[in-house]
Amino acid sequence: MSEMPSFAAHNGFRLPAVGLGTYRLNGDAGAAAVAAGLDLGYRLVDTAFNYENEGAVGAGIRASAIDRSEIIVATKLPGRHHAAAKARDSIEESRHRLGVDATDLHLIHWPNPSVGQYGEAWQALVDAQQRGTVRHVGVSNFLPEHLDRIESASGVRPVANQIEVHPYFPQQEALDLHAERGILTVAWSPLGRARELLQEPVIVEVAAGHGITPAQTVIAWHVARGTVSIPKASSIEHQQLNLDAASVVLASDEVEAITGLGRADGRLFDGDPATHEEM
Ligand SMILES: NC(=O)c1ccc[n+]([C@@H]2O[C@H](COP(=O)([O-])OP(=O)(O)OC[C@H]3O[C@@H](n4cnc5c(N)ncnc54)[C@H](OP(=O)(O)O)[C@@H]3O)[C@@H](O)[C@H]2O)c1
Repeated sequence: MSEMPSFAAHNGFRLPAVGLGTYRLNGDAGAAAVAAGLDLGYRLVDTAFNYENEGAVGAGIRASAIDRSEIIVATKLPGRHHAAAKARDSIEESRHRLGVDATDLHLIHWPNPSVGQYGEAWQALVDAQQRGTVRHVGVSNFLPEHLDRIESASGVRPVANQIEVHPYFPQQEALDLHAERGILTVAWSPLGRARELLQEPVIVEVAAGHGITPAQTVIAWHVARGTVSIPKASSIEHQQLNLDAASVVLASDEVEAITGLGRADGRLFDGDPATHEEM
């Protein structure tokens, strides 16, 4: 297996280029899929309080042959827990559900700007980091104004912003802003949920040229753009293909051609963080 590339945040914290998404990996099957993924070579596992699988992810971590210290487990604080007191309990609850001493990366799941409490949620994460129960703090679905607000209020910059990125929605401006600030971009639904995107002729053509699958081509496109991707894969076959894709190097014209699939309305659903809110 070739070495997994990784990307560094402003504080030196590194994430591997490819991690394992776990949305809909629940129960015993979810735990088995997480353990299998870790044993195959994944070192970053992405979960959330709202996926109702932190317990299964924790069980998968314990069932794997990999030492806990080598694993980065990322989870997310839900929208209904932004208020200071609730946020503190929720952060602790995630840790207990996972069965870990500290979460490695704890994100605010959505900013929910109309509620206006994401600043409190951020401060709760920063406080937990100071207590040592969260190693690194980050956000998800944050727009530039949300990033500015939490950093100016707390003096603490997130290490990562997990946002929707795939070839239909390449988010070049967000990637550029994050790169300027040393904030890692983590792409959610990096394969566009493996729908029609994987039949796009440009992707099929690049895949054929490298002797890889369209899904692997999309993962290699993320790596080339310096983005961490967290494809969800329940089967060992998909998990292995996705790991292998991390070391595929695309030519710059191939990357550009795939980015050319981007469109203003390319989101998978109406998930604009300025208006879409999740509790
Ligand atoms: N922060 C947020 O708001 C947010 C939102 C959405 C998602 N996420 C995170 O991002 C992760 C990934 O996003 P996602 O699950 O929505 O979508 P995704 O990773 O883009 O797509 C998942 C789908 O791709 C299939 N797949 C995986 N590898 C494949 C391969 N090599 N070839 C063909 N098909 C393949 C999977 O099938 P199998 O399972 O059958 O292998 C599954 O149906 C989530 O699991 C979650 O951790 C975060």
